[in-house]
Parts: sequence; structure tokens; C-alpha cells
Amino acid sequence: MSEEHKSSRPKLSIFRNWFSLAGLVVVGGSFFAFLFLFTMDLFRPTGNPYMGILAYLVAPTFTVIGVFLILLGLVLEQRQLAKHKPGWAIPRLMVDLSHPRDRRNLAFFIGASGFFLLITAVGSYQSYHFTESTTFCGQSCHTVMQPEFTTYLHSPHARVACSECHIGPGASWYVKSKISGTYQVYATIFHKFPRPIQTPIKNLRPAQETCEQCHWPKKFVGNLDRTYSHFLSDKTNTPYSVRLLLKVGGGDPTHGPVGGIHWHMNIANKVEYIAADERRQVIPWVRMTKSNGEQVVYSTGSFKYDPKKHAIRTMDCMDCHNRPTHHFQSPNEAIDQALAVARLDPSMPFIKKEAVDVLTKPYVSETDARQTIAATLKSRYPGQQGLDAAVDEIQRIYVQNFFPEMKSSWKVYPNNIGHKDWLGCFRCHDGEHQTADSKRMIKASDCNTCHIILAQGNGKELENLSAQGHPFHHPGGEIGDMKCNDCHTGANQ
Ligand code: HEC
Ligand code: HEC
Ligand code: HEC
Ligand code: HEC
Ligand code: HEC
Ligand code: HEC
Repeated sequence: MSEEHKSSRPKLSIFRNWFSLAGLVVVGGSFFAFLFLFTMDLFRPTGNPYMGILAYLVAPTFTVIGVFLILLGLVLEQRQLAKHKPGWAIPRLMVDLSHPRDRRNLAFFIGASGFFLLITAVGSYQSYHFTESTTFCGQSCHTVMQPEFTTYLHSPHARVACSECHIGPGASWYVKSKISGTYQVYATIFHKFPRPIQTPIKNLRPAQETCEQCHWPKKFVGNLDRTYSHFLSDKTNTPYSVRLLLKVGGGDPTHGPVGGIHWHMNIANKVEYIAADERRQVIPWVRMTKSNGEQVVYSTGSFKYDPKKHAIRTMDCMDCHNRPTHHFQSPNEAIDQALAVARLDPSMPFIKKEAVDVLTKPYVSETDARQTIAATLKSRYPGQQGLDAAVDEIQRIYVQNFFPEMKSSWKVYPNNIGHKDWLGCFRCHDGEHQTADSKRMIKASDCNTCHIILAQGNGKELENLSAQGHPFHHPGGEIGDMKCNDCHTGANQ
């Protein structure tokens, strides 16, 4: 009876066919690779990014390919059998639960698929988390993301995941980001990405859905007291600080008076604008819509709005805070900071000027920069005490803020928060914008609308506080009507 059964019902076997056999080897191999990498990852969760890629992306892909091969093999084999025994094919292959062998196979099949599904579930959950992780975003494509990852690590957001700002919650942006992410992976592998990466990022999600998850937009900030420490480029590196009271204010009447810099975020008002350039540095047209629907349009010179040519953008947090985390320090700013905290010794003659100069030069690579920085300073300060520490510090500043492989540095990424090195606030508040009936908006020379100078200078001068605000004593002489960034560029003037 059993003989007869065997001959009339040949077994479909994954062992008799090269495809299925190969598939089996692939599934087995990738499964054990996954288990191995998964265990390693469990014990070293903050480890190497490649471990994550292998465990949660590469291994599962191979498992799926393997399963596909096994199925392909079975289909081919079934066709083969059907050819030799016409009329035999599918019906007889159906499971017949009266046969103990079929029952055994079915139990095995259910068990194995259950196990496979479980592993896939764990795997895809991990893959999901992994592709969202800072390790994946920041470290996997080393050169490409190095500038953003490095600046991120030194920012107030160093503990906020990349995806919180770049993807945000919800399924649709997750899918969108994975689609553009797939292109980015391709671009990285084939070196098709732009250097530097272009900004503003076109499809960055609106701030309401990212920043505002954490920064409660109704929060009343009030006045912020900030001191900006600088050093002049003279022989003694004369310190010059300015202490500002920034009128940040707030935008929601239930939590404080509406006004000040965060007035733009007033939930009731809307500020829209048109940028004439890609980088949004030239803003010839601004429209304010008040809560009662009244609109005020400010524009410069002869600018005429043409709906076919111009896209209108609604102002949000990122129009001012466009570098909340990827802040590339300028040579001037970085050296001022190093001198202020004595990581560079201010008693070295002309060190401010020399250090800014050497950081401003173009370099082809990090090695080139390190060597030239060391050689230049050695030739300028022969026999100077503490020279090695100065060289180390300047090299450190270079590595954290300049990325020659990606052509990234402060120069290519405008910072819109102030108005010293970039136009920033003065893109709109420059005194050129007016309504049809010549009403001007707050202009650059209304210094005290945005902040007051509590104190300025150095030493004892900084104790002379003024509640009304001091007039600005510019350490570089008279400036007249010029804009700060006509002279200040982040490098030496
Ligand atoms: C606090 C929010 C925030 C976090 C966290 C964050 N980014 Fe960004 N990122 C931004 C903003 C805002 C921009 C600038 C957008 C613009 O100017 O269009 C930006 C720009 C970028 C750019 C474009 C190039 C540039 O420098 O402007 C890249 C690439 C990037 N981010 C990658 C990352 C990576 C990788 C991480 C994690 C290591 C990360 N970001 C974390 C907010 C964030
Ligand atoms: C996941 C939460 C989270 C998100 C999303 C987030 N931030 Fe923050 N942000 C923080 C934390 C935490 C700090 C540090 C707070 C502190 O030190 O008091 C911070 C600090 C800041 C500061 C103050 C920086 C300073 O110099 O002290 C600014 C400005 C800021 N965030 C703007 C933004 C903007 C703009 C976005 C959107 C692009 C954003 N944040 C998205 C959590 C977040
Ligand atoms: C008109 C420009 C502008 C807009 C728009 C804007 N901010 Fe600010 N914000 C500032 C300035 C200027 C400061 C003062 C700090 C500084 O200069 O770095 C500040 C300060 C902050 C701080 C720091 C407060 C502290 O206590 O240190 C946070 C957080 C912040 N803003 C979040 C936001 C968020 C979130 C949005 C969007 C809802 C937003 N800002 C919109 C200009 C702006
Ligand atoms: C896109 C254009 C635009 C930019 C950029 C911009 N503002 Fe404004 N701002 C406006 C408009 C429009 C008004 C309302 C008209 C007015 O009062 O002049 C305004 C009003 C203000 C006010 C008065 C708020 C009140 O209480 O009535 C302050 C303060 C201010 N801006 C500060 C800043 C600062 C600081 C920056 C840079 C960090 C900045 N703005 C960048 C468009 C802009
Ligand atoms: C539209 C608002 C606005 C106006 C008008 C304005 N400022 Fe400012 N200013 C700012 C903001 C915002 C910052 C802070 C930038 C930052 O946090 O980096 C700032 C920073 C400064 C600083 C410190 C910069 C540094 O890096 O040391 C000085 C000095 C200064 N302003 C002087 C002036 C003078 C002088 C005028 C008038 C001719 C003026 N400001 C007009 C918004 C304004
Ligand atoms: C005509 C060119 C010019 C203009 C315009 C100008 N500055 Fe300066 N500024 C200088 C020079 C030159 C120095 C001296 C630099 C030195 O000794 O390192 C200087 C020094 C400074 C310093 C201290 C040193 C440093 O590098 O930070 C600050 C702060 C400063 N200026 C802020 C401003 C602000 C804010 C504005 C706009 C309101 C402005 N300047 C407009 C030329 C200018």
C-alpha cells in the first residue's frame, strides 16, 4: 500500500532542485547571520552603524531572497512533475489530512512559517527603528552626512534624533522619507549627491509638525540676556563684548503679552513672503495677514508680484532658526569662543587675526588643513610657549566646522538668526520694504525694537548697565548706513 502511494504521489522536495536548495542555504545562512548580528547588537547597542545595516537590512533581504528561491524551485519542480505525469499536477499536491505524512508536513509548515513570521516581525521592527536612528542617518553614509552629524553632536539638539526634525510623526511622512531616502542611498553609492548639500531643503516638513512637538509655540519667552564675546584683531587681541537684552517676547495672548521677536509666531497673525533666490536671502515681498483678515503688503522698489513666477511661503520657526542644530561656526566666531574660554591663549600677539586667517584659507582635505595650520603657526610663532596647544585647538576647530570633502562650512550655509555676518532679520527689516502708501516696516536702524544694549566694551565698562540701552559703540569705527554684513563675513574684515 505504501509502495503504491509513493509511486502515485511523488513528493515535492526542496532537496531535489537547485533553486530550492540554494534558497535553503541562503535562508539558513542569512537567518544565522541575523541571529548572530542581532545578539551582538543587543550587547553593543550604540556600536558600529554597519552592524545595524547588516543585521536589519542586509540579512533580512537575503532571507526574503532565499524564501523566494525556495518557492521558485518548488514551482519549477511541480511543472516538471506535471510534464512527466500529465493530469497529475495540482489537485494531488493538495494536502490530504488523512495521510500522517501530510499531517506531519502541515504541522512543520505552520510551525516554520510562524517562526519565520515572528523573526520577520522582530526584524522589520528593528529595521524600522534602525532606519530612523541617528546612527543610520548620521554615520552610515560617512562622508555625506559627516558635516551635519558633527555639527549636530555639538548642538543643543545633540540628544534629539535626526528623524524628529527631518521626518516627524505619522505614516505619510515616513513613507515619503523612505522614498527620498532610497534615492539618497543610491546617490551615496554612486556619488551623485551635490557637494555641499543644497539648502533650504525643499521638502522639509513644516515646523508646526516637527519643532513644535517639543517647543510649545505658545510659550512666552520674554527677554533673554545674552553676552556676545569678541576679540579685536590687534596685537593685544583686545576683548570686546556686547551684552544684549533680546526682546524675544511671545506670540500667544493667553501666556503673556504678544510682541517682540516671537510676535511673528503669533497664532492669530500670518506672515508670508516671496524669496527671489534659491537660498531665501533676497526677500522683496512680505504680506502680513492680521486676525481680522486685514492684509498689509510690504515690498521693495519696483517688485511686482506675479503668481505664475513666484511661490509664496508662510514664515515659520525655520525662517529664523534655520541652523538650530547644524551650526557651522565661522572662523571669527569659533576663535572668539576659544579665546573667551581660554582654550586659546589671548596673550599670544595677534593670535585672533592669525588664527582666523589660517582657518579661512581653502584646503583640499583635512590632512592638508592640519598640516598647513601647524606649519603656518610654527613659522609665525617660533619658540612661543604653548604653541602646541594653540595648534591643537585650531585644528580641532577646523575638524568640527569645516568639511572639505563635502565643501561644507559656514560660508555655504547662511544663518538667519541675527544680522552681523548674514542679512538675517534685515532681509525684511532693512528699511527698504514699504506699503503702497509708503508705510515702512521696522527697519534696521530701529536698533532698540529688537534688543537693547545693556553694556559693551571690556572690563569695568561691562558693569555700566543701561536700562534704556546704550547707543552702539562700534569697535570698527563709523558705519553710517551700511549693513553689518557688508563688512562682516565671518572671516577677517
Ligand atoms: C533640531 C532639528 C534637527 C535635527 C535634530 C537634525 N536636523 Fe538636519 N536640519 C535641520 C534644519 C532646520 C535644517 C536646515 C534646513 C534648511 O536650511 O533648509 C537641516 C539641514 C540638514 C541637511 C542639509 C544640509 C545642511 O547642513 O543644511 C542635512 C544633510 C541634515 N540636516 C541631516 C541631518 C542628520 C544626519 C541629522 C542627525 C544626525 C540631523 N540632520 C538632525 C534640523 C534638524
Ligand atoms: C524632540 C524634541 C525637539 C525637537 C523636535 C526640536 N527641539 Fe529644539 N530643543 C530641544 C531641546 C531638548 C533643547 C535644549 C533645551 C535646553 O537646553 O534647555 C532645544 C533647544 C532649542 C533652542 C535653543 C538653543 C539654544 O541655543 O539654547 C532653539 C532655538 C530650538 N531648540 C529650536 C528648534 C527648532 C527651530 C526646531 C525645529 C527645526 C526644534 N528646535 C526641534 C528639543 C527639540
Ligand atoms: C522672527 C524670527 C524668529 C522666528 C520666526 C522664531 N524665532 Fe525663536 N528666537 C528668535 C530669536 C532672535 C531668539 C533669541 C535667541 C537667539 O538669538 O539665538 C529666539 C529664541 C528662541 C528660543 C530660545 C529660548 C530660550 O529660552 O533660550 C527657542 C526655544 C525658540 N526661539 C523657538 C522657536 C520656535 C519653536 C519657533 C517657531 C514656532 C520660533 N522660535 C520662531 C527668532 C525667531
Ligand atoms: C519674512 C520677513 C521677516 C523676517 C525675515 C523677519 N521679520 Fe520681523 N516682522 C516682519 C513683519 C511683516 C512684521 C510686522 C510689520 C512691522 O511691524 O513692521 C515684523 C515685526 C517684527 C517685530 C515687531 C513685533 C511687534 O511687537 O509688533 C520685531 C521685534 C521683529 N519683527 C523682529 C525680527 C527679528 C529679530 C528678525 C530676525 C531674527 C525678524 N524680525 C525677521 C517680517 C519679518
Ligand atoms: C529686526 C530686529 C533687529 C534690529 C532692528 C537690530 N538688531 Fe541687532 N540683533 C538682532 C538679533 C536677533 C540679534 C541676535 C543674534 C544672535 O543671537 O546671534 C542681534 C545681535 C546684535 C549684536 C550682537 C552681534 C554679535 O555677534 O556680537 C549687535 C552688536 C547688534 N545686534 C547691534 C545692532 C545695532 C547697532 C542695530 C541698529 C543699527 C541693530 N542691532 C538692529 C536683531 C536686530
Ligand atoms: C564698514 C565696515 C563695517 C560695518 C558696516 C560694520 N562693521 Fe563691525 N567691525 C568692522 C571692523 C573693521 C571691525 C574691527 C575688526 C577687528 O579689529 O577685528 C569691526 C568689529 C566689530 C565687532 C567686534 C569684533 C568682531 O569681529 O566681532 C563687532 C561685534 C561688530 N563689529 C559688530 C558690527 C555690527 C553689529 C554691525 C552692524 C550694525 C557692524 N559691525 C557693521 C567693520 C564694520
